[in-house]
Formats: sequence, C-alpha cells, structure tokens
Amino acid sequence: MKRKAFGEPLAAGAAYTQAGWYAMPQRLPEPVIDRLRESVARISVQDRPEVVFEDGTQVVRALHGCHRFDEACAALTRLPVFVALAESLVGGPAYVYQFKVNLKQPFQGRAWPWHQDFAFWLREDGMPTPNAVNIAVFLDDVHAGNGPLTVIPGSHRLGLLDIDTAHRSANSQDWRRHVSADLEYTIDENRVAELAADLGRHVAVGERGSCFAFHPCIVHTSSNNESPDRRAMLLITYNATNNAPPSPSRPEFLVDRITTPLVADDGFPW
Ligand code: SIN
Ligand code: MN
Repeated sequence: MKRKAFGEPLAAGAAYTQAGWYAMPQRLPEPVIDRLRESVARISVQDRPEVVFEDGTQVVRALHGCHRFDEACAALTRLPVFVALAESLVGGPAYVYQFKVNLKQPFQGRAWPWHQDFAFWLREDGMPTPNAVNIAVFLDDVHAGNGPLTVIPGSHRLGLLDIDTAHRSANSQDWRRHVSADLEYTIDENRVAELAADLGRHVAVGERGSCFAFHPCIVHTSSNNESPDRRAMLLITYNATNNAPPSPSRPEFLVDRITTPLVADDGFPW
C-alpha cells in the first residue's frame, strides 16, 4: 500500500487564538478523500445507532463515532498533520473526544442553528474547560449554496454566551436534540445579529479535501442545503487529555471514553 507524508506540523496558534478558526494551507490528497467517502457510503446504509436521520425522515443527517469502528476514519484521526495541529492548539497531548460526518444531503440536508459547541460539552458531559479543537475535513466541494459552516470570528473570546431559553426543551438529556436541526442550546438571533455587526462573519467554503480548525466557543451555524450538491463535512474534536470529562453519560459514540494520548501515524489505508 502506497504511503505518503502529509508535511510538517503547522504554526497556526496566533491566527487561531485571534480569530477562533484556522484554514489549513494544504488539502488532503484525493485518494484519502475517496477512501473516506467510501467509508461514508458504506456506513450510511448500516442499521446502527451511530447513523442519525433528519427528523421524521429516512434521510441520513450524520454518522457518529466512526473512528471507533472504521479503519479509514480511525487512521484519519492519527494523521501527523492533524495530531500536531491539535496538540499545538490545546497545548499538550490530545485524544478524540468526538467524531462525526455531517452529510447535508442535496435539497434535504437541514440547518444547524447558531450555537457554541462547548455549551453541549460542558452542560451535557461536564468537559471542564473549552481546551479542545474541532478539525473539519470537507468530503465534498463546499460552496455558498450547499450549507457551508459560517463562524463569527473572535466570538470564542467572549466565552460561553447565554442560551436562547425559548428554545429549550423539558428534556435536555435526550442526545438526539444535540445532533438534530432542532438543537437544544442555541443563541438568540438578536444576540447573533449584534455579534455579526461587531465581528463580521466568515463562510468556510473550499474544495473537497480542505481542512478547517475551529474553537469550541466560536459562534457558528450552517443553513439548509437548498442545492443539488451534497455537503459532507467530517469533524474530529480533539480534546486535551487533561480536560476529559470525569463521568460523561452520553453514548460513547458521542463522547469517547478512551482518553489515552493519540500517537501520530501516517499509515492511512489508501
Ligand atoms: C455543520 O455540519 O454545518 C455544523 C457543524 C457544527 O455545528 O459543528
Ligand atoms: Mn457545532
């Protein structure tokens, strides 16, 4: 099997600290993306709890925890360029807290309302601090029309904002409301409008293979996919090993219990 190195660790810290997001300069090679897309196609038709549908439909919205059972997804989390970036952004050894692929199917993929990821990880899992980082990998070309991730640069520096209580349900313990278009912890749209007026917005578009890191406290959203183009985006959340929640209760495919430090390995099975 052919192997390739992915280049040297990146110095991204200053940009990430300032803006709360960082677009990696290189794209992942096409064969890696092809291999991941094969995994996504295979897992999407499996009957397993990790496969989540758009509410009330059979349209696959997301695949969760795939690094726990799929070889290519597991290998992706160990890519040296990702491990180096994650370790540098969390300031030490890291493990995979969460892994998912959000699929945004053509015409049917639904939105992610404005929110901060740490609102879920603190309130639902007891993650002590937001010393974690998401790395997103575009498995499809992402453009303005297929529901790109939109962030408010610098909003992570405000810490956790108030949640929109009008949106809360009586049953916040139901993890399905942490992964559906009807999200549990959202931010009031007036507050978002103020923030966007102050700080602007960044729309994360790019060709497939592009990679994008973002902070757990950055305010972000993505809209319905009204286009004929799928928008599959894979997300790995790396957490500092000294920031693991002590006793999480959500399913292991949402909160991995294996917190041993990742060891970088460029043996991607392509
Ligand atoms: C999306 O897939 O567009 C949303 C991802 C996220 O909220 O983390
Ligand atoms: Mn999010």
